[in-house]
Amino acid sequence: MGISNLRPAISCISLLALYISLCTITPTSSASLQDDFINCLHRNTNVDFPLEDTFFTPERNASIFIEVLESTAQNQRYLTESTPKPSFIFKPVHESQVQASVICSKKLGIHLRVRSGGHDYEGMSYVSQIDTPFILIDMTKLRQINVTIEDNSAWVQTGATIGELYYRISEKSKIHGFPAGLWTSLGIGGHITGGAYGSLMRKFGLAADNVLDAKIVDANGKLLDRTAMGEDLFWAIRGGGGGSFGIIIAWKVKLVPVPMTVTVFNVTKTLEQDVDNKILSKWQLVADKLVEELFIRVVFNVAGNNGNKTVIASYKGQFLGDKGTLMEVMEKDFPELGLTQSDCIEMSWIESILYFAQFPKGTPPEVLLQGISLLGKVYFKAKSDFATKPIPALGLKGMLKRLIKEEGAIVFWTPYGGMMSKIPESEIPFPHRCGTIFMIQYYTPWTDSDKRPNTHIKWAREIYNYMTPYVSSNPRQSYVNYRDLDLGQNGKNSKVKSINAKIWGPKYFKDNFNKLVRIKSNFDPDNFFRQEQSIPPMPIRS
Ligand SMILES: Cc1cc2nc3c(=O)[nH]c(=O)nc-3n(C[C@H](O)[C@H](O)[C@H](O)COP(=O)(O)OP(=O)(O)OC[C@H]3O[C@@H](n4cnc5c(N)ncnc54)[C@H](O)[C@@H]3O)c2cc1C
Ligand SMILES: *[C@@H]1O[C@H](CO)[C@@H](O)[C@H](O)[C@H]1NC(C)=O
Ligand SMILES: *[C@@H]1O[C@H](CO)[C@@H](O)[C@H](O)[C@H]1NC(C)=O
Ligand SMILES: *[C@@H]1O[C@H](CO)[C@@H](O)[C@H](O)[C@H]1NC(C)=O
Ligand SMILES: *[C@@H]1O[C@H](CO)[C@@H](O)[C@H](O)[C@H]1NC(C)=O
Repeated sequence: MGISNLRPAISCISLLALYISLCTITPTSSASLQDDFINCLHRNTNVDFPLEDTFFTPERNASIFIEVLESTAQNQRYLTESTPKPSFIFKPVHESQVQASVICSKKLGIHLRVRSGGHDYEGMSYVSQIDTPFILIDMTKLRQINVTIEDNSAWVQTGATIGELYYRISEKSKIHGFPAGLWTSLGIGGHITGGAYGSLMRKFGLAADNVLDAKIVDANGKLLDRTAMGEDLFWAIRGGGGGSFGIIIAWKVKLVPVPMTVTVFNVTKTLEQDVDNKILSKWQLVADKLVEELFIRVVFNVAGNNGNKTVIASYKGQFLGDKGTLMEVMEKDFPELGLTQSDCIEMSWIESILYFAQFPKGTPPEVLLQGISLLGKVYFKAKSDFATKPIPALGLKGMLKRLIKEEGAIVFWTPYGGMMSKIPESEIPFPHRCGTIFMIQYYTPWTDSDKRPNTHIKWAREIYNYMTPYVSSNPRQSYVNYRDLDLGQNGKNSKVKSINAKIWGPKYFKDNFNKLVRIKSNFDPDNFFRQEQSIPPMPIRS
């Protein structure tokens, strides 16, 4: 990121220690920045689109600015008073405005962040800790979805949520689905570009494995489809993570077949009920080897109070078929769980989406059009791991012992295998394929009233350290959609940053990282699209 294309006020800030008084004499008003931007926008769009209801500055729109900023942001940790705020928020209503946004940000030397669904774990889509000032391009007004059942495809604009896509598919067909995330408020933009897994992953792979075409605005403001961008860039955006290559405006995705009836279950076992971890141990042996139609995830919650706490393991399953067939599979391959007919609930695929997203029983699928996240206003820290061998009894014991100490914490085990193992590691940037038994996520939430937020972050780091001998190594792998700024501990210094990229790069992408760097160097050599952990453009020296 060359200093040359930054405004004077910014280089001033980067020399903060020396020139602090100068900086405060000439503050950049976000309102005037917005005016410059709007003027530039007018010059760079041929068609006139109304700009009302699309710009929000802290000065002119004080009453709603914070509301708009927080609207889809999921992690309160990045919404405190002291976190940097964008100078203004722009919600484009047309593709050409996205193009002009890139051109004008470049011209005015203002850093830009793009947000689709706002679920980034480290707030990368709405907070910049490395560039001041910055603006926020929020995609929420670009949320068209066209489903074409005749050729099993859909074009989806990135401001839509994954729940809206699911709903629009189910509206047209009961036997079509799409293999993306479990949480229905996820934004199509950030989610798919980081991989995107859900309960259909063992049968069909990731959402990123099922992309046919895309439209992206590059660092020159050009709008490119698959043919125009070429296969390299098209490869990079399917799993390379958000905020590195351009602003994706729409994805063309491939729909997949689902049966009229799917079966779900949620069997829970406390630590005491799972004597000698017999069920957990067996799950680790079969989770990735079961028929591809079956997905059984384990969710560990802490239950009980003070002197009487336990961990509840919920085995949440989805089977693409009826309960009779499911019972046969379970009796043969996983009898230890003790699944019964009465645990099994038959439903349509779209109802199973609502079930996994934890909507109360009987919620109509139309709720998906509202893009609601049931997460609520929480602060959280999370980390991820991949298990390539079963975790032995000692490791399990240690993990559970640590979990039980942290109120509200959750550990997720998500099974791999099936289609996930069949797709080669270099097919798309997402590299966690053959040899992965399951993915682990350690997650701890807290609320406003918590007086010691750092203890939770410490907890996440501690359990992660503890798990070191039991998970993948060389590199220890992480899921880029569970963005974790601890990895490689990014500094503000750009030199440090490129060294750090050598650490987090292979964790998220293994050998694919080198190809991502090469593609980044071709398409965005000046690093216009950047964030704390974006793909760096230059060859990395160690
Ligand atoms: C509660 C919760 C549940 C989750 N469940 C799952 C799950 O089941 N499966 C799963 O795979 N993941 C899951 N995730 C992780 C999720 O996939 C990532 O957080 C993902 O990045 C979210 O995308 P978004 O558009 O909502 O986020 P945003 O915060 O809007 O964006 C994330 C990143 O992508 C960039 N970006 C956003 N839009 C675009 C665009 N149009 N073009 C280019 N870059 C863009 C942003 O700048 C940012 O760097 C979950 C996250 C949360 C908080
Ligand atoms: C923000 O304030 C300006 C100036 O008062 C006004 O023109 C604009 O419409 C407001 N934007 C929104 C989205 O209300
Ligand atoms: C959806 O279809 C309409 C009508 O054909 C078209 O104008 C629009 O561009 C399409 N949207 C997307 C995202 O492809
Ligand atoms: C599964 O059961 C547990 C324990 O009763 C509960 O907390 C959880 O919400 C249930 N999950 C689903 C998807 O029903
Ligand atoms: C401890 O919890 C278990 C399971 O929730 C319950 O059956 C038992 O009565 C509890 N014991 C005490 C002392 O509260």
